[in-house]
Amino acid sequence: MIPRTIERVDGAIRFIDQTLLPERLEIVECTDIERLAGAIRRLEVRGAPALGIAGAYGVALAAIQSEEQDLDAFLAEVSAAADYLRGTRPTAVNLGWGIDRVLAAVRGAGSIEAGREAAVAVADAVAEEDEETCRRIGAHGAALLPENARVLTHCNAGALACATWGTALGVIRSAVAAGKTVSVTACETRPLLQGARLTAWELAADGIPVRVITDATAAFLMRRGEIDCVVVGADRITDDAVFNKIGTYMHAVCARHHGIPFYVAAPLSTFDPGRSETDVTIEERGREEVAAFNGKQTVPDGVGCTNYAFDATPLDLVSGIITETGVLLPPYDSMPRPRHI
Ligand code: MRU
Repeated sequence: MIPRTIERVDGAIRFIDQTLLPERLEIVECTDIERLAGAIRRLEVRGAPALGIAGAYGVALAAIQSEEQDLDAFLAEVSAAADYLRGTRPTAVNLGWGIDRVLAAVRGAGSIEAGREAAVAVADAVAEEDEETCRRIGAHGAALLPENARVLTHCNAGALACATWGTALGVIRSAVAAGKTVSVTACETRPLLQGARLTAWELAADGIPVRVITDATAAFLMRRGEIDCVVVGADRITDDAVFNKIGTYMHAVCARHHGIPFYVAAPLSTFDPGRSETDVTIEERGREEVAAFNGKQTVPDGVGCTNYAFDATPLDLVSGIITETGVLLPPYDSMPRPRHI
């Protein structure tokens, strides 16, 4: 049984430190936003919906802990904390979405005490709604999977990327729960190996058949007829593209070439209406993630590395977007326009 990825227990936030998996399952208890911000930057907490929850709880923590007596000073302190958390990772829109939901509740509360209460209530709601959302995504997506489905996925869009259940892996869990036979091919997902470490860990924990491949193996398996469909998550969906873990675009191109459906599973909170690919900042991470492996240097000193954490897949390569309200199909001319505060 996998514990919830992130939750509030009284005045503290508890989360699974995902950098330690699959070797160790360790829960961290965090009571300050600097620690939380560090956890987001280091990917102890990661995955778009989990980042939304972390952001929401971070703002709630700032509200609870503020010692300001004056309402304007209190609001200024909570807003500064929100900006600080927002700056931790740029690509997943859910982070800002979770932060802004709580910030709006604090601003609208009218007093410091009411602001604190509203912050905790809304942050808890963000976390609780996530499970229901994932289960709805799962139910809609499960219907798309054929019997004996052999599904390829990339990165981790599972329970560990949400409060529980998952988006892309939620589709797989829901299909299995509905009695379908599903086997998963998890791309290892260089350089931080979310597929090998996290997707494989959580599916194995649930007894769902999974194998891990190097990212470069995906095209070859498609060519050999070993993949029926691709299901991935998303960090942001603009009017023209899906942003997800680096390597996703490559799978979409290969899937199209081989006539394999390529599905994206994501909550409405991941949509960023009115924006296009060029408006989005793609996180670039440090050279050290690419230049070393298993504690050993893999790139010569003085040679640069490019380490984009995400890529953009144009919508014309996407066979369907599975949301909590149903499956969107091409040509995507009526994309949902969820209200982002
Ligand atoms: O850098 P990460 O591990 O936060 O990247 C996560 C992903 O790319 C996931 O696929 C995405 O956030 C969807 S999670 C439901």
